[in-house]
Amino acid sequence: MKGLVAAGGLGSRLRPLTHTVPKQLLPVAGVPVVVHALNRLRDIGITEIALVVGEFGAQTEQALGDGSDLGLRLTYLPQDRPRGIAHCVSLARDFLGGDDFVLFLGDNVFPGGLADYATAFRAKRPAAQIVVHKVSDPRAFGVAELDLDGRVTRIVEKPAEPRSDLAVIGAYFCTPALHRAVAAISPSARGELEITDALQWLVSRGDEVRAQVHTGYWKDTGTIEDLLDCNRELLDHLEPEVAGEVDAASELTGPVRIAPGARVVRSRIQGPVTIGAGTTVLDSRIGPHTAIGRQCSVIASGVGSSILLDGAHVHGVPDVRASVIGQHARVDRRSEPPGQRLVLGDHARAEIAG
Ligand code: DAU
Repeated sequence: MKGLVAAGGLGSRLRPLTHTVPKQLLPVAGVPVVVHALNRLRDIGITEIALVVGEFGAQTEQALGDGSDLGLRLTYLPQDRPRGIAHCVSLARDFLGGDDFVLFLGDNVFPGGLADYATAFRAKRPAAQIVVHKVSDPRAFGVAELDLDGRVTRIVEKPAEPRSDLAVIGAYFCTPALHRAVAAISPSARGELEITDALQWLVSRGDEVRAQVHTGYWKDTGTIEDLLDCNRELLDHLEPEVAGEVDAASELTGPVRIAPGARVVRSRIQGPVTIGAGTTVLDSRIGPHTAIGRQCSVIASGVGSSILLDGAHVHGVPDVRASVIGQHARVDRRSEPPGQRLVLGDHARAEIAG
């Protein structure tokens, strides 16, 4: 079985971060979202994987290379613009050949893994098998209706009036039957070739499309709130490892990962926390649920429930919370003149307490 990861798209709800970084490279618990996806595929024995990449494809390729560091063989398939998830499948037609495959949405996170779904697919081998999850508002998702035996009877993309509360989530187990479906459908009203329409095409023809209900944690990291929520969840399962320097005046509690080359001086770190390589934390309080990237500096500050991307700086700010700070962004304290001074990029967001 091969893997196909949809890692293009625009990430418009994650601006301004996605002006410069593809959303799948944004870190949760110190690791890019797409690496979590690749690890889940490797866990079920898939090592040959194509990634569909968009505007920032070169950046994704630079970050992941040929995949050998992850024990994978990666191929990159450029998509000129987001033409839909089913279009990703058609781009991968030659790569996939006659093999079964898992199509994985590169912004979805399933910490519990896919082993049960892979076993069910291999046992029954329906034309396709999806994974669904009960959500309170299904209107933002593909929505599936199932019969009592777990067969999909109807599947619709983002219906205004959903007829079930089962959202389709980002792991699709497919046989080559999906290629005929993808070739048969036309773009939707939003101009995309919808994977949902391809699956409905199979259902309408009488091909078997099955669904597995996922009850564990799952997140589409489409917004800042989702990214922070996912960061919190994954950090709750953090394996501690202190490879960097921690001076005697610092105190670490709970699970903490400090990468080689990071320095913690006169600070309190309350895990779960990750601190990336080359980062300095000085006279500060960090955590819980905080992931700090590489080459950052946090000085005389307090940072909790937040994500700092590589090269971010927080100096003299006592209580940064529920924040995502972009690459090389700075947050500084100043006392004179009074008032807040903000230099914010397009689509940036600042919330000031008090
Ligand atoms: O998250 C689950 C939902 O994902 C499903 O319930 C929907 O049925 C499915 O259509 C999809 O909806 P979204 O609107 O959330 O898809 P999004 O545009 O976020 O794309 C999902 C992933 O696929 C993301 O990593 C970007 C990538 N992608 C998307 C498109 C449209 C591509 O690589 N190329 C594309 O053309």
